[in-house]
Amino acid sequence: MLHFTSENPDETKKLAAQIREKYPTHKLILLSGELGSGKTTFTKGIANHLGMDEKDIKSPTFALMREYDDLLHVDLYRLEQPDYLIMDQIEAFVSRGGLVIVEWPEVAIHLMPKPHIHIKIDTEDDTRRFEITENS
Ligand SMILES: Nc1ncnc2c1ncn2[C@@H]1O[C@H](COP(=O)(O)OP(=O)(O)OP(=O)(O)O)[C@@H](O)[C@H]1O
Ligand SMILES: [Mg+2]
Repeated sequence: MLHFTSENPDETKKLAAQIREKYPTHKLILLSGELGSGKTTFTKGIANHLGMDEKDIKSPTFALMREYDDLLHVDLYRLEQPDYLIMDQIEAFVSRGGLVIVEWPEVAIHLMPKPHIHIKIDTEDDTRRFEITENS
């Protein structure tokens, strides 16, 4: 288990790039943390690292997911039970080598394919504490 701290959104984006470099073969990243903890900010950092424009990353809370060329951005906040269609899409995206990021994964946590990285974010003022677990 690894721990990191960030004091502002830019640090969170840089941390995302570092984690991507540390776990290049892990194609699924789960992001847990309360509203406004920085999950979408983290995803923007991943997008930058993939050579995308972070401005294209919009919170998929209402859409449940947004698909880009190399990134599938999922947000299960509004889901009340696991959705097998979404799980299939996550698996398919991972199998073809794309990177999947899931905000609010709890509703389907036991269905998430492995290996994956589970990042839990704690919030205190502007400080964000990241706890990173690798599940293989
Ligand atoms: N260290 C930090 N890292 C990331 N965001 C921070 C930090 N400090 C302050 N913030 C602020 O916290 C907010 C994070 O918003 P963001 O949309 O990334 O959260 P989220 O976890 O995706 O929320 P939601 O659950 O609603 O999707 C932003 O307003 C950002 O400016
Ligand atoms: Mg979000």
